[in-house]
Amino acid sequence: MRTFVYTSHPARVVFGAGTVGRLGEEVERLGCSRVLLLSSGPLAAASARVRQALGGLLVAEFGGAAMHTPVEVTQRALDVLKEAAADCIVAVGGGSTTGLSKALALRTGLPQVILPTTYAGSEVTPVLGETRDGRKVTRSSPDILPETVVYDIDFTLTLPLPLTVTSGVNALAHAVEALYSADANPITDGQALDAISRIARALPRLAADPADQEARADLLHAAWLAGTCLATVGMGLHHKLCHTLGGSFGLPHAETHTVVLPHAMAYNAPAVPGVMRRIADALGVPDAPSGVYDLVASLGGPTSLRDLGMPESALPRAAELAASTPYPNPRELTREGIAELLAGAWHGRRPEGPPSTQARLARLTERVVASFEQASDPRVRTLLSDLVRHLHTFVAANDVTEDEWQYAIDFLTRTGQMCSPTRQEFVLLSDTLGVSSAVDLLTNSRTPDTTPSAVLGPFYVEGPPETAHGGDISAGLPGVPLWVDARVTDTAGEPVKDAVVDVWQSNADGFYDVQLPELDGPVLRGRLRTDAEGRIAFWSILPSEYPIPGDGPVGQMLDAIGRHPYRAPHLHFMFDAPGHRRLITQLFVSGGAYMDSDTVFGVKDELIVDFAPQAGPTPDGRQVDGEWRRLEYTFRLAPLAG
Ligand code: BEZ
Ligand code: FE
Repeated sequence: MRTFVYTSHPARVVFGAGTVGRLGEEVERLGCSRVLLLSSGPLAAASARVRQALGGLLVAEFGGAAMHTPVEVTQRALDVLKEAAADCIVAVGGGSTTGLSKALALRTGLPQVILPTTYAGSEVTPVLGETRDGRKVTRSSPDILPETVVYDIDFTLTLPLPLTVTSGVNALAHAVEALYSADANPITDGQALDAISRIARALPRLAADPADQEARADLLHAAWLAGTCLATVGMGLHHKLCHTLGGSFGLPHAETHTVVLPHAMAYNAPAVPGVMRRIADALGVPDAPSGVYDLVASLGGPTSLRDLGMPESALPRAAELAASTPYPNPRELTREGIAELLAGAWHGRRPEGPPSTQARLARLTERVVASFEQASDPRVRTLLSDLVRHLHTFVAANDVTEDEWQYAIDFLTRTGQMCSPTRQEFVLLSDTLGVSSAVDLLTNSRTPDTTPSAVLGPFYVEGPPETAHGGDISAGLPGVPLWVDARVTDTAGEPVKDAVVDVWQSNADGFYDVQLPELDGPVLRGRLRTDAEGRIAFWSILPSEYPIPGDGPVGQMLDAIGRHPYRAPHLHFMFDAPGHRRLITQLFVSGGAYMDSDTVFGVKDELIVDFAPQAGPTPDGRQVDGEWRRLEYTFRLAPLAG
């Protein structure tokens, strides 16, 4: 059982959007009718809405609140207050305006209504810090505590992001230190943890959209909770350090909180591991101090005292001051320890915590890449390194699970097991994923004024039957007769003779011979040679569209994504000629099916040609009953490089 003392600091809180509209009601509820409004110049729009909401209740205004609440400013405001015989103070603004309101309330006993525009949280504390003759004096009194706080998120929507971040982390610091405070109790613990998770949720959303209403509401709610913690329990090392740095070295308040917090947390972490675990859980990170640092860094900082203008030479004095007067803190304060802490904060180092998963992954990737350094072929080194980087990035970006990776391995295993001399499932996979066409596109880009190439596909068979000029590769299979009359030239248009030309295609039902074991020998394939004019001519049949084989893993993949397996109708060609680059391509039947959705992404406009319908006599006098087709085409080969 935990024994604790809890002191509440009662205030009425009105929270929401547009709550400024209830201001008049709230003033009257306090029995008041003559309001002094404290505002500040940069908040002209908010002040105008407050004036409008107060209407006839407003009797005077003071706009000169200053940082650290100097007593001379308070005196001037007090004169205005007395002159107007005000009976209530309304303040709209950040910590300075709230401070002035508190100073006036302390001197007059008048009730206060505060409309905060930042996340400082001082509107719910009974504490006032005033400066007299350059010295800051802090006191606490129930008279200082504002009676009513009107939180209107509309007043925070335009707070610039850098201020939102530093003011939000200021609130985070109240919640963090409340959790390891000597006065910690279950009530403030709950408020603090709620505040921390709201802040961790809100800040990244506001970085993406500073006007995000839900996130603004979360952050303002958190600021109230964290301010309540600050009011209820004593703060520790972090607040002491920030006061020292602000008071003795003039560093800006919220920015200093933002830089120091992760380092103060790291210093205290060994003394309160349980608290740090709860904070880490609320933040949704593995380690609290480095998690806060990463959050701040991801929001654009600040992360170093150096950037706030603190000279490095001032660090030893700051450490001495911070360690000089004892105060409650979970870990003993030593000058050396604080000096080390401040050095880390000055340089903006990430506090040591367990490395993040991301950092460990990056290290793993680099180790694997380094293991390729000995490869004798630099191209192998480059390709493997880049492949590994892409694979690791893919795994990390998609948070791939062990089950998913095992599925991928099983899929590839099945793909390999499906391969045989007449079935190439890996080629199908490469084709259906568009990788073959991507490689082909790159290849083409290197030889722009030649016939475009197209994917080889899995149905090419080495050493097709020699076919004479004018021969027939269809071996009498049924189909519309097709006369192919092609010329092969170089890029200058000169005929290329003695080129070896392999052709292959599907039958009228969409099957290649290798898919039909009952067929005797190769059919619908041939090897021709160009004559002195660079010509080949042969008979075949009109190719049809066909589904790529669907009985393996690639077929299952297409089924799973609801994609059809069809290739547009085409005829394959492969050219080998001395002094020329090999050309592998396909000609597509103009008007054929699936031209726009070829399942291997292989159709190119330049390769769609007329397989022109014909009737009557054939070029070589062959007897054909009914329709036949004629394909005429000139292929241009690229010269061998170099
Ligand atoms: C083919 O045209 O033969 C083909 C190309 C890629 C995948 C399947 C078949
Ligand atoms: Fe094909």
